[in-house]
Amino acid sequence: MFPYKTSFFLDRKSGSALYLQLSHQFIHYIKKGHLPSTTKLIGTRSLAELLNVHRKTIVACYEELELQGWVETIPKKGTYVKATLPISSFQSNPSSANKTKAIDTVGFQFYRDSHRNYETSEASPGMISIDDGISDTRLAPTVDVARIYRKLAGKRSTQEEMSYGSTYGNLRLREVLVAYLNETRGLSITIDNLLITRGSQMGIWLSSQLLLKEGDCIVVGETNYPSADLTFLQSGATLLRVPVDEDGLCTERLQTILEKQVIKAVYVTSHHHHPSTVTLSAERRLRLLNMASHYKFAVIEDDYDYDFNYNHAPILPLASHDKGQSVIYIGSVCKAVAPVFRVGYLIASKSFVDEAARIRRFVDRQGDALLELTFSEFIRTGDMDRHIRKVMRHYERRRDLFCSLLQDALSPYLEFDIPKGGMAVWVRLKKEYSWERVAKLAVEEGVLLGNWERYDMAKTQHNGIRMGFARHNEEELKVLVSRLEKAFLRY
Ligand SMILES: Cc1ncc(COP(=O)(O)O)c(C=O)c1O
Repeated sequence: MFPYKTSFFLDRKSGSALYLQLSHQFIHYIKKGHLPSTTKLIGTRSLAELLNVHRKTIVACYEELELQGWVETIPKKGTYVKATLPISSFQSNPSSANKTKAIDTVGFQFYRDSHRNYETSEASPGMISIDDGISDTRLAPTVDVARIYRKLAGKRSTQEEMSYGSTYGNLRLREVLVAYLNETRGLSITIDNLLITRGSQMGIWLSSQLLLKEGDCIVVGETNYPSADLTFLQSGATLLRVPVDEDGLCTERLQTILEKQVIKAVYVTSHHHHPSTVTLSAERRLRLLNMASHYKFAVIEDDYDYDFNYNHAPILPLASHDKGQSVIYIGSVCKAVAPVFRVGYLIASKSFVDEAARIRRFVDRQGDALLELTFSEFIRTGDMDRHIRKVMRHYERRRDLFCSLLQDALSPYLEFDIPKGGMAVWVRLKKEYSWERVAKLAVEEGVLLGNWERYDMAKTQHNGIRMGFARHNEEELKVLVSRLEKAFLRY
């Protein structure tokens, strides 16, 4: 039975008629295959009761759906999702139309690993979902990027790029990135030190494959970017956690570990620690580099949101001070521009980059050369920097508004520090509250908290989650906080 009660969200203040809000949400579920063809819809009286609306609203909604061709009403029998839907592709696409009936059993054995589970929950229409800090795609320079892409695709001189190319990535982009990163990040690399990836996550995975085998140890922060934790665990490694305080990863604790055992690597998000957003202090940066060259471990530096700093200029990465060839520096354009543009880089000594390129070839012969070429233009012409400057102004305003709304409406329940950079606030719930209950109440008010449990992989009950502010405009942030406030008032 389709979960009608929890699947629909009605915003009585939105100015849009309730029956229309409902019918849009029905269409969404039909399109997604959650209500497949020929499904009998719940009766109007029962649905009205479940959703606490007048029966006439449901009747008007079903009439609207029938008018648009999504459902048909058979007298004395009921209302059914139509066998032939208005857009034929919804039916012919088995993955959406038959989603609820997908075959799940296999006639063979395969290897599974629970560390690969990284489920994300999907918000129903009308709900606001809290992410862990991603860019607002409405501000993305999609038109500019598409213009460059189209122009390049039509050029005779670009025909070469349409064939198989280098596993290391498009040469032009590698040259442009070398110049750009040497200038902006204080690096001194050549193209031999750089592999183009499909985003930072691929860089983390490649590093993990080359550094870690069953039984090897890697040090990560407590708490840490959950996807990195899972990537390392999935390589068979043991995670050794060290605390993270207001100066970032605690190098004093790292020293204690190093005196007792061998580690292969340390993973850091030194610029803005994920999730707590703090910056690794200058003193600890130097200590970490000294330890790395002394104890011969790798430092995986994930600089996922380098560009976004509101109180000071970006801090140069560890990689820029690395004299001992210890750092593997990872970044991408996915936060600065938009997650859809899968262009990133892994920077390290040539021998490591060469091996990373070889291993990458097994899962991805090469990247999207045309997109990479497009980004070489986008960066070379200064368009990317102009875009970053533009969105920074928006994100700074959003950070300030979000923090002041949180402070005014939710300070009895939560604690947080204003982040100096990045796209998210690290919010801790006061001891007497639990996210589990808050999450349930929030859904009823139209807010999806997401997988808040994943921030506590080490099960220390720290009670924090990251709340992204960048993706929502000012109006949306106000609605979000007022819905959260309502949820807390009902706690
Ligand atoms: C700390 C951190 N590293 C890496 C990534 C992955 O980024 P990309 O989209 O470039 O693969 C994210 C994405 O949210 C992140 O937060």
